[in-house]
Amino acid sequence: MCGIFGYAGTKKDAAEIVFSGIRSLEYRGYDSWGVGVVPASKSKFLISPLAVKKQVGKIGQASIADLPQGSIAFGHTRWATHGGATVENAHPHLDCTKRFAVIHNGIIENYEMVRDKILRKKHTFRSQTDTEVVVHLIEELAQTQSLRQATRQAFNLIEGLNAFIVLDSQTKQLIAVRNGSPLVVGFGRGENFLASDASALLPYTKRVHFMEDNEMVIITDSQTEFFETKSGKKLKPLIQTLNWSFAQADLGKFPHFMLKEIYEQPKILSNISQVSTVEIKKIAGLIETAFGTYLVGCGTAAYACLAGSYLFSKVSGFHLNWAIGSEFGYQLDFLTPKSLVLALSQSGETMDILESVKKAKAKGAKIVSLVNVFGSSLYRLSDYSLLMGAGSEKAVASTKDFTAKLAHLTLLAYALKGKIKDGQKVVAQAAKVAAGICQRPDLSRLKKLAKLLKHKDHMYIIGRGLSYPAALETALKIKEISYIHAEGLPAGELKHGPLALVEKGTPCLAFLPGDETYGANLAGSMEMKARGGYLIGISYKPHEIFDYYIPVADCREATIIPNVVVAQLLAYYLAIERGLDPDKPRHLAKSVTVK
Ligand code: M6R
Repeated sequence: MCGIFGYAGTKKDAAEIVFSGIRSLEYRGYDSWGVGVVPASKSKFLISPLAVKKQVGKIGQASIADLPQGSIAFGHTRWATHGGATVENAHPHLDCTKRFAVIHNGIIENYEMVRDKILRKKHTFRSQTDTEVVVHLIEELAQTQSLRQATRQAFNLIEGLNAFIVLDSQTKQLIAVRNGSPLVVGFGRGENFLASDASALLPYTKRVHFMEDNEMVIITDSQTEFFETKSGKKLKPLIQTLNWSFAQADLGKFPHFMLKEIYEQPKILSNISQVSTVEIKKIAGLIETAFGTYLVGCGTAAYACLAGSYLFSKVSGFHLNWAIGSEFGYQLDFLTPKSLVLALSQSGETMDILESVKKAKAKGAKIVSLVNVFGSSLYRLSDYSLLMGAGSEKAVASTKDFTAKLAHLTLLAYALKGKIKDGQKVVAQAAKVAAGICQRPDLSRLKKLAKLLKHKDHMYIIGRGLSYPAALETALKIKEISYIHAEGLPAGELKHGPLALVEKGTPCLAFLPGDETYGANLAGSMEMKARGGYLIGISYKPHEIFDYYIPVADCREATIIPNVVVAQLLAYYLAIERGLDPDKPRHLAKSVTVK
């Protein structure tokens, strides 16, 4: 969702720094953007103490060369919630005097009340956003108190999960507050930064503080001061040094991040099969002693949870519940301090997960997270966090984090059985099979299939057992980036309704690994074929009923991993064939930081 980047320093090209900062946050998904800078010197052309540039659409080839030089600036990429994607609604928003500007991520739930009861009569609103309320509220409150107090009071008055930054052109400071939406402070030499994502800070500094809920920071070129928003009490930041590499954020030789991230999987999986098992064993111990373990995630991570429930049952004979993040909050009445929640998230910032995990925590449940981003909100909220080691994932479509999660869940299931070495072997085997799929001739078969299917309107994907979450994930990937309607189904459900949709030429993908599901899955495939379906078999062996065959060697329970790699590549090439940008699907964002 919205990307935020702020700079206060001694360099004169603050606007350029900020512009490149928000460019690096493009992957979060947005529909408009804006940059605000305090000009270094007064110019007769400047009618305002703040210079602002805002545009609708992607940054693309846009330039901000027309903005003046200055040493303090901030920028924002907006993903519309309140009010359409227009220049007026893009951030920053200015107060009536144009002294203050605000950028914001989140939703102000009581914005109508604040606007109508406190501000309407005295202030002129120029946008349809909830954000604009904040800047006028600060303008109003700052008439009788310091900006620090005014910002704090404004923050305490608004409701919802929010992070915003105020830029004061007079005192040349940035004031940021956070509750829910992520914000990271970066400490440089003679310069300080703010960003919604620590990866955006990497070109400048690795020394960061991840802001907690209800924290406020005041930033100038030489100082950072932290306060508690409720009491105003001074706080000490927890400064950490990131060990991330800047190169991870680069495309390298790949045309898109999604393809790059798909290709990174064999290496990541092979690493996972070799790293120390201490943490895995520790979490397996927690599952063993808990009175009920609940796997919770959203989107792709939810399908990893579902796969986990099959893995634990199949490999270690353990029953684990699973729930979709946004629904879990409605079914946790039975949680006790003996329950364990395994929260799965790539970003660690998905609001639906954070909200339900907070509720579970309030009931005393222990929280363990499988998360890819160090320092993320979920990482910090959890009693124990296991990092996926997948490296920065930039494409909106999640790929390498998903297979890294499947690999870790496989290890956990095997650890519970006391046979972690066997788990490492199957993950290592899956890494090899995945590597083969990324090479010719398998790749050419997938590219050819994408050409055959590119004009189709609907696709159905079936699987049983672990291939059921694989089918769901395949459908999600295809929908998300190629915009073709795709449905993932448990093969057994076909005859209970969906079969009515299959007609001559309907693409039907079937996962047929050589496990206990093979025979029944084949029966489902035949049912589709008999209704005219164009049958694409993804299996360890060909079959006469397949109209198109994608070979995937078996690697026991980990076959789901290479199966999903096939799905990722097919979705990617479908998007390419349809002339779409697979990295930035319409209407979607990488980090879903609103409810
Ligand atoms: O960062 P998270 O893993 O918590 O994100 C969860 C979902 O928003 C995410 O997996 C989403 O479904 C992806 N775009 C799917 O490719």
